[in-house]
Order: sequence, then C-alpha cells, then structure tokens
Amino acid sequence: MSLMKPFSFELPTRIEFGSGVSSAVVDVLKEMKKERPLVVTDPGLVAAGIFDRIRAQLEGSGVQFEVFSSVEANPKDRNVMEGAAAASSFGADCLIAIGGGSPIDCAKGIGIIATHGGKIRDYEGRTSVVRDILPIVAIPTTSGTGSEVTFSSVITDTANKFKFSIRHPRLAAKVALCDPELTASMPPLLTAATGMDALTHAIEGFTAIPSEPIADACALQAIELIVRYLPRAVRAGDDREARTGMLMGSVLAGISFSHSDVASVHCIAEALGGMYDAPHGMCNAVALAPVMEFNMPYCQERYAKIAAAMGYGYATEQEGAKKAVKHVERLAAEVGLPSFRSLGVRDEDMEAIAEKSVKNGSNASNPRPMGKNEYMGLLRSMK
Ligand SMILES: [Fe+2]
Repeated sequence: MSLMKPFSFELPTRIEFGSGVSSAVVDVLKEMKKERPLVVTDPGLVAAGIFDRIRAQLEGSGVQFEVFSSVEANPKDRNVMEGAAAASSFGADCLIAIGGGSPIDCAKGIGIIATHGGKIRDYEGRTSVVRDILPIVAIPTTSGTGSEVTFSSVITDTANKFKFSIRHPRLAAKVALCDPELTASMPPLLTAATGMDALTHAIEGFTAIPSEPIADACALQAIELIVRYLPRAVRAGDDREARTGMLMGSVLAGISFSHSDVASVHCIAEALGGMYDAPHGMCNAVALAPVMEFNMPYCQERYAKIAAAMGYGYATEQEGAKKAVKHVERLAAEVGLPSFRSLGVRDEDMEAIAEKSVKNGSNASNPRPMGKNEYMGLLRSMK
C-alpha cells in the first residue's frame, strides 16, 4: 500500500446494524417519502417464511406494495427485465430488496432499467448509469454478498452464460437494514458458502491493485471477524454472537471490495457461476487458496498482514504469508465446502473458463498479471 496514492471514498448507504433493525422498514420508507415499494426477493425466502415478518410490517402500516419473488440464483438478465416490468406496471417509487446477493443485485438491475430503459446487458461496466436509479432499501438475509453496501451488481447474460458486472455509486442502496436475526435460519452449507464469499471479498479487497487505506482497514477487521466466527456459525446456527460477527464481517468486506476491487478468485468464480450455475460462494471457496498461492510472490507482505489479522505470529513475511494460505485451505475444508472438480468442471471447459476469467472486469485488479496462460496453469493445478 502506498499512502502517497490519491483516492476517493464515498459510502452513500446508511447502515442500520443490530438485532431487530429490520422492523424499521416502514419508518425508513416514511423518512424517504416513498409509498409504493416493489419487494424483490426469491422463492426460497418466501417459502422459508423469512419475508413474512417484513410483510407483516408493511401490511400492518397500510403500505401499498407488490412482491416480485422470481429472482433465480446467479440472477439472470430475464429476472431483471421481468422485475422492471413489474415495477413499471405497479408504479413503484422504490425497491425493497430482501435476500442474499441474488435479490439485492437483481434489484439494482431493476432500478436501472426502470429509470433508464433498454436491456440490462447494455449497462456493463462503470459508465452507463447516468441518472439516479429507483431508491433501494436492502435487507440482507445472508452474511456473504455485501451487496447491501456495494456499488456493484453481477448479472448473468443467459445467451452467453457469462456473468457481467455493473458498477457505479448510484447502484448503492440508500439504506441497509442489517439484522443478524434474519441470517439465523441459514443451513450450515449456505452459511459456509456465503461466509467464504465474504472472506474472499476481504482478502481480494485487501490485495487488489486499487486497494486504499480505508478499504484496507475494513478488510483486516472483516478477516478477523470471519475467521473467528464462521466455524461457530456453521456448527451452531443459533449462535447469535457468531451470526452478528459474520454479518458485520460481511458488511465490512463489502465496503472493502466495493472501494478496492475483487480479483482473480472472483474472475474464476464468475466464469464457473455463468457456465455451471454453481453457487457463488462455493465457486470462490474452491478457488481462494489456489489463487492466493499463485499470487504469493506478488503480495507476500499483504498476506503476512492477513495472517496477523487471523491471529498468527511469524518470524518472516514469507512464513506469515504461508500461514494465511494454509488457514484458508483448512477453513474451507472445515466448514464442509467441496473441491473444484466436484462442481462438475470438465477438462474440455478449461479454456473457456480461462477466457471468461480474462474478460472479467476485475481481472486487471489482480496483484499478479493474469492472461489466459496463467489461468490455464492455475486451473490445471486445482483439484
Ligand atoms: Fe462475491
């Protein structure tokens, strides 16, 4: 990190954090002077009853709202377009996104199309969102995505099986209601996968080329919290301290990578998610330790600082860096995440995975320069 490098830091999202804060949703709408929210969520959350308590708040206060609950995992371009049509026909003046990364990212896309028109694929990159979008209240139900505080939305282009990113501070939610109680019903494997996504955000946020001191501080605190609390949250879902620590870690990691970037772990994970529709957190979990090992010669000092945040002492930076990589490897195994090959990756797909990784908007942020050959070497080494 160079303290001499200029940077800007903007966080347009107001964060309300703590047990029970999701019950403030109606007050938040009143403060925003909004009265016709479209709720964006997914069928799993509706079936699990997690939406019920928010629904009760809205119904109890007489707010007119509609529900769009057709968001798929790895949210698809068609979900955004259907949601935007629902927002228009209802005359929504804001969006309430409830869920993990999929509904929140999808809501950001809906907010863009409802105010800008066109097709969501046209907004890839950092420059096409030129006006404010429909304001979003984000209510996370997992501890992983960080999407409640980030400026980005990742959507699957279904024709090309490619996940693309849209990034702009206008995508940020106006308010994030971060209520650990809503994360308590996640089953162990979802807790593990989303938690490894959060850890990846923190580690990539800390080591990506655009990193800066405020994002760094958030990343190191996130790493400390996630390594302490993820195994506990996986073992006992009702461990409230662990659930709170994980949600805080996820929020901090989100702030970190949104102001820095993600890097090659996410490039590979998004290629895998687009091709196999595999869960995002799992895709990160299988790639994180191998990519760290591969990047090691380019960021040994930073990995040693990560080891310190994990609680390790070391005599040399090299020793510290190795301890950080080993810890990540052990953690992924301890929380029960699968291997790379078990995601269904085929040898004949390796080139396509490498090509899609190179095309990813965050590829240039990896501390080690990565072309197709580097990805091929890395992918072949992954088990
Ligand atoms: Fe992620």
